[in-house]
Amino acid sequence: MIVAGIMSGTSADGINVALVRLMGRGFNTRLQLLAQHEFPYPSAVRRAVLGAMNSKSASVADLARLNFLLAELYSEAVAGVQRESGLKADLVGCHGQTLYHQGEPALFLGRKIACTWQTGEGSLLAARLGVPVVSDFRPADMAAGGKGAPLVPYLDYLLYRHRRRGRIVQNIGGIGNFTAIPAAATPEQVIAFDTGPGNMVIDAVAEALFSKPFDRDGRFAAAGTPLDTVVSEVLRAPFFRRKPPKTAGREEFGREFVRQFLSLCRRASKHDVIATATLLTARSIGLAIRPIMGAENSGAYRDYLVSGGGANNPTLLAMIEREIQPFGLKLQSTDAFGLPSEAKEAAAFAVLAYETWRRQPSNIPSATGASRPVVLGKISYV
Ligand SMILES: Nc1ncnc2c1ncn2[C@@H]1O[C@H](COP(=O)(O)OP(=O)(O)O)[C@@H](O)[C@H]1O
Ligand SMILES: [Mg+2]
Repeated sequence: MIVAGIMSGTSADGINVALVRLMGRGFNTRLQLLAQHEFPYPSAVRRAVLGAMNSKSASVADLARLNFLLAELYSEAVAGVQRESGLKADLVGCHGQTLYHQGEPALFLGRKIACTWQTGEGSLLAARLGVPVVSDFRPADMAAGGKGAPLVPYLDYLLYRHRRRGRIVQNIGGIGNFTAIPAAATPEQVIAFDTGPGNMVIDAVAEALFSKPFDRDGRFAAAGTPLDTVVSEVLRAPFFRRKPPKTAGREEFGREFVRQFLSLCRRASKHDVIATATLLTARSIGLAIRPIMGAENSGAYRDYLVSGGGANNPTLLAMIEREIQPFGLKLQSTDAFGLPSEAKEAAAFAVLAYETWRRQPSNIPSATGASRPVVLGKISYV
């Protein structure tokens, strides 16, 4: 079966499409990447998406419009990849654009509520592409008591588990998250959670101080010196001390966080500030890894695979390397393991859709905190 996976992450940089061939069942599913492409959002769409994530300013009418507009853009993206490759998907898995995610229950109108919201209308996508679409993957996990994230560990386990080598698979999107798979692990032994900001704070600083959407190839950060004291101070925040499972998003590391971060850096040069934001990502990853590794590297961890847009930032990777070296981990791109770094998350949603289509569960309860495995998503038929 050929399945198209569509991902648009918290960076709001654009749409990733992966066309994959899937064979087999459950954790023996085999995946072959057939085609993939990244479609940056037009800048007006990016602005609208970022605006929609700002709960103080978003208008309900615009949110409703965005739901349908994004589905149009998603369908054009998939159609583009199909045209280019001469292939056609039998099924689509669409993550959608997260507008709000609150994994922890909190009091709302007298009740404790956890919630999540991904937009991009599945029915429209199904109509445009002429095949069934699975979307809205996260709520089912939350209904089972999970945090609705991370969901990519299912793919990580499928692709990267190894009998003798423990592996940590780190994605650096807007948020950083990793999946730790001990050698010879069962699915229940997989550990996965959000490590903190990935590119989100770096991007915000690039925008605020350099008027650029991101620090291309880490050049600005490479020209600065990070402020250690600021990084240490920020890492004292509750998120970094909380035990997993835990998730983060713009709610934690968006506007307000960046405002405070900039004020902590107030006297530094702009290059030093962006170097500091970059070190924050690297240190938060180091902090998250430490307890996993244990005193004697009990999971036999050897490999550290990186994916996501942050894998293109050499300054960040050099800082991460310094963090993981003491643990004897070797940093590599997921490219070397058969799936290009940019395509991994989109491919993950193709796999999750494939499981849902066959009514198979695909959350990893040890990663999300759910009480049981559940079938994820909603299906829109043609
Ligand atoms: N050449 C590059 N140099 C530095 N950073 C990059 C580069 N290419 C992409 N990025 C970073 O990757 C981010 C997008 O990563 P992505 O994995 O798509 O995240 P998300 O899943 O949140 O959309 C961009 O916002 C940018 O910060
Ligand atoms: Mg992206």
